Amino acid sequence: MQIVFTTPGAPETLNAGLAVLALEKAQLSAAAVAADAGLGGAISRAVGLGRFTGAKGQVLDLPFPVSGGPARVALIGTGASEICAAVAEHAGAQAWKSLSASGVETLIISLAGLGTDAAAHAAFGASLAAYRFDRYRTREKPEAKPSVDKVVIETDDVAAAEIAFAPLKALADATTFARDLVSEPANILYPASFAARVQALTAVGLTVEVLGEAEMEKLGMGSLLGVGQGSRRESQLVVIQWRGAVDPDSPPIAFVGKGVTFDTGGISLKPADGMEDMKWDMGGAGAVSGLMHVLAGRKARVNAVGILGLVENMPDGNAQRPGDIVTSMSGQTIEVINTDAEGRLVLADALWYCQDRFKPQFMIDLATLTGSIIIALGNDYAGLFSNNDELSGRLLAASEAEGEGLWRLPLPAAYEKQIESMAADMKNVGGRPGGSITAALFLQRFVNGLPWAHLDIASTAWKKPSANPTIPDGATGFGVRLLNRLVADHYEA
Ligand code: BES
Ligand code: MN
Ligand code: ZN
Repeated sequence: MQIVFTTPGAPETLNAGLAVLALEKAQLSAAAVAADAGLGGAISRAVGLGRFTGAKGQVLDLPFPVSGGPARVALIGTGASEICAAVAEHAGAQAWKSLSASGVETLIISLAGLGTDAAAHAAFGASLAAYRFDRYRTREKPEAKPSVDKVVIETDDVAAAEIAFAPLKALADATTFARDLVSEPANILYPASFAARVQALTAVGLTVEVLGEAEMEKLGMGSLLGVGQGSRRESQLVVIQWRGAVDPDSPPIAFVGKGVTFDTGGISLKPADGMEDMKWDMGGAGAVSGLMHVLAGRKARVNAVGILGLVENMPDGNAQRPGDIVTSMSGQTIEVINTDAEGRLVLADALWYCQDRFKPQFMIDLATLTGSIIIALGNDYAGLFSNNDELSGRLLAASEAEGEGLWRLPLPAAYEKQIESMAADMKNVGGRPGGSITAALFLQRFVNGLPWAHLDIASTAWKKPSANPTIPDGATGFGVRLLNRLVADHYEA
């Protein structure tokens, strides 16, 4: 799908759909007033006779209102008293959702009179909404596919809108990259093929290193390697670097992702029902890859490191057993009570390696870590755990600004006893009470006192159904926007 900006009054063909915005109380935007006049008052007549109130999510769709004009006109409700960036983004996405499969080939969204920032954000919303993963659908009927292949954004200052859109386009592209990684099935996306896709990002200016099992063995990563030991696919540790700060040697900020390309549970095998969902157990690594992609894409003035722990968790004659004791790179030993609590074992070594090698300002890990975070928070919030109030506050502010929900949960020292082991320094499960919390307490033992935050995104990495038009059903790309905002607001010189 192609996006272009033009000045108002683009030639409208029969093949075009036009979307215009309404504020609360069905008040028409300037572009809607102009469109209404061009349609002989069809929009205001429909508003007057129907139940349209301008509420967010409401759409008044007029098919073929006049001959010679656009084939469809949609009035998009925003529920807002004025059009800010977030409102325009949602409206752009809603316009795509409403008209993309209507039969028209061009979608014109008019933001005339609403400023260039609104125009850029409407384009961003439409880009996010247009995501679909159809690579393997070879027999899909044409009428089931989107008909729109071009989105035209009408704005008063085309050059300014294009400039405002550039970093948003980088963000949309990076989100698509992350969503694709999450959507790919595990026979296609396994540790080595994941690493290869990330390696292709050298084209946008990132440095990428890939460590295999032999190198990880030398580093003493017994915790991560134990998880991948039952898989035919070789485990990989990917190190992505972006050096965009004025001083290329200043300490970086660091992001660490859980990348379990498939989680069967291992010998502690999961039930069959719903196991296919575990192809997206690499959502944390997907988000970190997307973040690094956007930092490079918009040439962020920051030094950043992304570390991906990529493994496949399989049952096998060589798989790790419940009761096995592994030695992590930190030297701490872990009794593996349940092989399905594998994400923390992967992150233990990835986090330790990260702080040991890079001495970063902070580390943030993202992981589809626990089913219990879904029970605790539902699907609109990821869990935030942190040893640092400033970092937490900044993450929560970024969450608020970008509409990616985060909710902070505690790290009570008293719960540490749930992961005490009789045989080793700790065990990898702490029982059902506070399951997401004991998982986070486990991770905290591998950050060596550095400022750190853990985002448990098991609740938000995948949504079906999704009520938000910027997030089509399936892979959300959760975390890319949030962390991009965190970096932009606080860590760029
Ligand atoms: N990948 C799962 C967590 C998960 C569950 C993500 C459901 C998305 C949806 C993780 O590796 C896991 O299996 N966690 C266990 C931990 C338990 C064995 C302590 C869980 O949450 O049940
Ligand atoms: Mn698991
Ligand atoms: Zn898992």
